[in-house]
Amino acid sequence: MDKTDRSEDSIKKLETELDFFEQEIGLLDVVGPKAREIIGQDCNVISACVSRPYPLVVDRANGSIVKDIDGKEYIDFVAGIAVMNAGYSNQEVKAAISAQLDKMVHCGYGDFFAEPPLKLAKKLRELSGYSKVFYCNSGTEAVEAAMKLALWKTKRQNFISFYNAFHGRTLGALSLTCSKVRQKEHFPAIRTVHTHYAYCYRCPLKLEYPSCGVECAKQIENLIFRKELSPEDTAAVFIEPIQGEGGYIVPPPEFHKEVRKICTDNDVLLVADEVQTGCFRTGPFLAMENFEVRADITCLAKALGSGLPIGVMLADRDLMDWPPGVHSNTFGGNLLSSAASLASLEFLEKENIENHVREMGAHIRQRLRELQDNFPCIGDVRGLGLMIGAEIVKSDKSIDPIRRDRIVREAFKEGVLLLGCGESVIRFSPPLVMTDEEADLGLDKLEKALRRATR
Ligand SMILES: Cc1ncc(COP(=O)(O)O)c(C=O)c1O
Repeated sequence: MDKTDRSEDSIKKLETELDFFEQEIGLLDVVGPKAREIIGQDCNVISACVSRPYPLVVDRANGSIVKDIDGKEYIDFVAGIAVMNAGYSNQEVKAAISAQLDKMVHCGYGDFFAEPPLKLAKKLRELSGYSKVFYCNSGTEAVEAAMKLALWKTKRQNFISFYNAFHGRTLGALSLTCSKVRQKEHFPAIRTVHTHYAYCYRCPLKLEYPSCGVECAKQIENLIFRKELSPEDTAAVFIEPIQGEGGYIVPPPEFHKEVRKICTDNDVLLVADEVQTGCFRTGPFLAMENFEVRADITCLAKALGSGLPIGVMLADRDLMDWPPGVHSNTFGGNLLSSAASLASLEFLEKENIENHVREMGAHIRQRLRELQDNFPCIGDVRGLGLMIGAEIVKSDKSIDPIRRDRIVREAFKEGVLLLGCGESVIRFSPPLVMTDEEADLGLDKLEKALRRATR
């Protein structure tokens, strides 16, 4: 393709994207001229594989409020995809970043030593109980690291993960991911057998909880280990404590205990992907604590760096005993990310955020359940702490992704940021510092959006 072709292609794309936003939500009425200009230019230079649900062009943010480039304010139930747990422009995080910025940004921690990543590792050990930390830069990299450690440690070649799982998009992690086929088509995979997660609202086995006895978990032992993949060939089971991208699916209390037992009984490693659920998102530091389960390996990223890129893989010393040179990277242990992360964790601890998360989460779920009375399209409200999903359905309980998208866009018009997940779910993952007033105002606005989207 020569340059002319490319620019023609881009122009086509630009028109399509602007047209799309115009037709879908009336872009001109909603966002200002600066936003429109930036979106137009963005389409010309940014890879088309990223998809935006509505035309938000951010400029600045504070706490749980985001301001767009034309000055309009939004109440944010997205938190940069469950990242800004300590709130935007957190003073303590900013101070830690500035102090580190004055000293040094990056050192190549894979080759040298430095204090900030060490201090953070000690804090992670204190919060999680795991004795060893491996640093990387994102969720998918943390999952890759866990896959490699499991392969290296067990000398086995295969994995088990779950339908609706999302573990990242690099090729290893993508093999575990099983959320939307678009994410996987045309890409090769490491062998992974997928099995049913406890999606009780739409039980894949058509059973009822609790009489089902979490049969979905038991299938790992009763079906997979007997018919498809022996435990002797299984390096690890990867699991999200609550499925995130796949639909904010909260399993019943026994589910993770049962998976843990099966892994222990069959000598298979259990890896908890807490990339989205970790860092106090559901109340405790790790979401697995809600289920009284401890995985052999835990992955964290997203909220850990308070907006700066960082990922970690946590495990105990006897498991993470691979020798120098087996795995490393350039930016892991980045000084700025480490300083931001430590300050953010210390802030959240000091604020006793776990209690606030539980109370605020219960309040938001309660209000969403009240909305169910007037809006039967809200089929299910579920969540733990501030990881809450509302599943949007038709009158026969089948999924309604079109209405879900309409609600999300109408909310945007009202000044509320929401994102979808799964096939038909709206996710609520606000900054953990969101105040009662902000949450209530956001939900009042959502009610208006629901009225318009269901007319
Ligand atoms: C559970 C989970 N694992 C892994 C990832 C991948 O993280 P990243 O986008 O930082 O690569 C995500 C991202 O949404 C996630 O939710």
